[in-house]
Parts: sequence; C-alpha cells; structure tokens
Amino acid sequence: MKKTTAIILSVLLSLPTLGWAASAINWDMEPFDPDLHDKPSLQNGMRLYVNYCLGCHSLKFQRYEMTVDFLGIPHETALENLIFSGQKIGEPMTTAMDPELAKNWFGAPPPDLTQVAKTRGTEWIYNFLQTFYDDPSRPLGVNNKVFENVGMPHVLADLQGIQREACVQVPKMAENGGEMRDPLVPGLAITEEKCGELVVDEGTGLYSADEYRAAVYDLTNFLYYVAEPTRLQRYRTGIFVLLFLVILGCFTYLLNREYWKDVR
Ligand code: HEC
Repeated sequence: MKKTTAIILSVLLSLPTLGWAASAINWDMEPFDPDLHDKPSLQNGMRLYVNYCLGCHSLKFQRYEMTVDFLGIPHETALENLIFSGQKIGEPMTTAMDPELAKNWFGAPPPDLTQVAKTRGTEWIYNFLQTFYDDPSRPLGVNNKVFENVGMPHVLADLQGIQREACVQVPKMAENGGEMRDPLVPGLAITEEKCGELVVDEGTGLYSADEYRAAVYDLTNFLYYVAEPTRLQRYRTGIFVLLFLVILGCFTYLLNREYWKDVR
C-alpha cells in the first residue's frame, strides 16, 4: 500500500516538471488546422516531400500506391513525377540514404517521419519548418526556434530565403490583451521593440512569405495524412457504429416496453 502511495505521489510530483519541459520552447507557436479533404494541398505536400525530404527521411510504413490512390493521382503520373528512386509503385517510401553515413554527416541520422505528426504534433512541424534561421556558430550554419541546435540543414532555404534573427517593433499589449493606443494621437498604436524575431532577407527566396507558409502548410498536412492514412475511413466507420447503436437502442427500448407491458 505504501509503495502504491509512493508511486502515485511521485507521478503527481513529476507532472509540473513535464509541463515545464513541454513549454520550454520559447516561440509563439502559430496554430495548425489540418484538412484531409483538401486534395490539392495533400498532392502539393507529397510533391514537396519527395523532392525535398525523401532523400533523407523515409516514410517506411507508407506505400506509394496507397498514397497516390488516396490523393487521386494516376499511377503513370506518379511513376513519372513522384518516384525517382526506380522503386515500384507497390513499395514503401524508403530512402536511399545509408543511415550510418547520414549519422556521420549530420550527427544524428534523419529519423523516419511516418509517425512524426503524432510524436511531435502538426503544430510543431508547421512551426519547425518556418523557423530555421541563419546562425554561423552552428556546424550547418542554421539553427531553429522550436528545435534548438537542430542537426538538419534548412533544405527549403531556396524557397523561403535567408532568415535571420532581428529586433522588430511590435504592438505593445495591454494587460487585458488588447493593443495599447497612444492617448494623445487617436488611433496610433504604441509599439515596443522585440528581439529574437525572424525576418527574411528580401529577394533571397523563390516564394513570398505567404507562398512559403502555404507550402509548409501542405507539407505538414501531408505528414498528418501519412501518420494515419485511414483516418477518414475511421471517422466514417465511427458514424456508422454510432448510428447502429442508436437504432439498436430504439429496438431494445421497444422490446423492453413490450416485455413489461403485461407485468404492470
Ligand atoms: C539532408 C538531409 C535532410 C533533409 C533533406 C531533410 N531533413 Fe529533416 N532532419 C534531418 C536530420 C539529420 C534530422 C535530425 C536532427 C537532429 O536530431 O538534430 C532531421 C529532423 C527532422 C525532423 C524532426 C524529427 C524529430 O522528431 O526529431 C522533422 C520533422 C524533419 N526533419 C522534417 C523534414 C522535412 C519536412 C523535410 C523536407 C522539407 C526534411 N526534414 C528534409 C535531415 C534532413
């Protein structure tokens, strides 16, 4: 009994520490709302993934065929444009990179990303891919706001451009959460300097800020799909099961009434 109490106590006591660890990211996370019905977004996510990520990160629990069928991409189009490694369409989406070599190059081998939307969460991935910044003190020349001292290069830098830390003027917030206004000049917002924000060097990226955000949205949405490819099917089955239970419930109720009718 004493032992059980001790275990329960130690779990309870460790809860605040776990919470602290989770909130250790010092970055204002932008929320992410996945959409599995948005096929163009998922198709673009897959295109970006095979072009920019699959070279290092496998999706070994995901087969090309199942993926392109769900996304509505014809097999010939997929074989021509999405499968570069000479693999067959029925094969899992593995990478040609040797994990041992990769470990030597990057310090950590690039992990398989089939489940990353579950382990890290989509919001984390969405922000991770947006917050690489120039940091000459790091071996690869970049750091990341949500993954400090990351061992991955900024592979989307040609799309996003070179991003740096800077001090920028942001609206000053009042205690009630609203923006503070200048009492003398009507409508003028009061600003304050905030350092550690990220700014892209103008003209260094192929995409505008909005286009880049949309591309990262599609990539994250694709990884959300990959983490559970049968999610939509599961939702549909769930609805059928609930409907079935409701109908069964009605009959059981009627039957129950019928049985008790003569007793009362
Ligand atoms: C040149 C190889 C390389 C490429 C290309 C690459 N990554 Fe990475 N990535 C890595 C390495 C190495 C790590 C491990 C970093 C560490 O642990 O410090 C990593 C880590 C990650 C993680 C964190 C995984 C975790 O849970 O720790 C995510 C998410 C990720 N990469 C996404 C992507 C996406 C999306 C792309 C394509 C846009 C991509 N990566 C392209 C090498 C690569």
